[in-house]
Amino acid sequence: MAEDFLKYQAQTSPHPLAMKVSHAKGSYIYDVNNKAYLDFVAGVSACTLGHGHPKVVAAIKEQLDQYLHVMVYGEYIQEPTVELAKFLAKNLPNNLEKTYLTNSGTEAIEGALKLAKRATGRSGIVSAKNAYHGNTMGSMSVMGYEERKRAFRPLLPDVSFMEFNNEEDLSKITKKTAGVILETIQGGAGFIEPKNHYLEKVRERCDKVGALLILDEIQPGIGRTGKLFGFEHYNCVPDILVTGKGLGGGMPIGAFTASGKLMDLLQDKPKLGHITTFGGHPVIAAAALATLKEVTKSDLMAQTLEKEQLFRKHLAHPLILDIRGKGLMLAAITPSTDITNQVILACQDEGLILFWLLFEPKAIRITPPLTITKEEIIKGCQIILKVLDEIQEKHS
Ligand SMILES: Cc1ncc(COP(=O)(O)O)c(C=O)c1O
Repeated sequence: MAEDFLKYQAQTSPHPLAMKVSHAKGSYIYDVNNKAYLDFVAGVSACTLGHGHPKVVAAIKEQLDQYLHVMVYGEYIQEPTVELAKFLAKNLPNNLEKTYLTNSGTEAIEGALKLAKRATGRSGIVSAKNAYHGNTMGSMSVMGYEERKRAFRPLLPDVSFMEFNNEEDLSKITKKTAGVILETIQGGAGFIEPKNHYLEKVRERCDKVGALLILDEIQPGIGRTGKLFGFEHYNCVPDILVTGKGLGGGMPIGAFTASGKLMDLLQDKPKLGHITTFGGHPVIAAAALATLKEVTKSDLMAQTLEKEQLFRKHLAHPLILDIRGKGLMLAAITPSTDITNQVILACQDEGLILFWLLFEPKAIRITPPLTITKEEIIKGCQIILKVLDEIQEKHS
């Protein structure tokens, strides 16, 4: 199987972790030898309620018995899809009332960029250095990391970059700007939070020049930072909100949400302004709705901030220089790329799953399911500390 994996399944990482998965339940993934791995990554912030959450699985099974795909996006009335869009609207500020559902985060970003252009009649997009918004051509055009996109140029024209948290750079947002796209908390960059009312200032600048503000909440959204959406911490409401990952509770999804007035522009000049076959799929929508209901009706969000403090308390070690991020979106920074690599690989051997961040090689990703227990957090942190002690001894 491992040979076939490398031979037949296209890989883009030179050294995939290649764990042979048997099954997964709660906070654990099991390999084919039935070895249990405590999951501190949650499919890269996607498995909000852990693995195989009974409510998500039940919602999927129930919908499987009704119907699967029946029609392209937005033509037929499919209850789970409508209920999901409505649930989002009821839990968002008033201007975020209409949602377009996609199959992935990057597609939702594409839709949001198109909507900003369509709505303003402008072509300029301003993004942030070290931003990550996905890997299709439009999303890659607004990715602020040249090394990973050079080979794929030419990309979208009229894209410029400002430094995240740098107020002077806000002058790059002008009357030619259709949209400003930012992650509410920068992910790939190393879980960088907005500081000094930065997002409020971006909002103000956008309003001044008539540009739309797009916030990418694909990673921080759906309770991961202790609120349903990250922007709720920063007193800044976007014109277009993009979600994904954790919204699907382990199923593939993306969504962009805006006012009815903005969103209806996609019906006209041209009509069919954004098309997808499978977006809004009823089975995926049922899983997402079950996930959202559980996140909003349980005390998981409140627990998230307590769990963050537990991580911070139990990850005290000389080789952890900083812990960045918020809630259960944390990055432990070690002194070197080499140490970070050693920790991630050794922890996997010890039965703990950790992972990297895209553009910050010293960061260890800690984004467990929101359902992780306090005991599991302490157990995983003890494994990390043991591995760090061994690394420290080796180097002393
Ligand atoms: C902030 C952010 N935006 C966009 C994406 C792209 O989402 P997807 O991989 O579902 O296309 C990701 C995925 O990692 C992300 O973290």
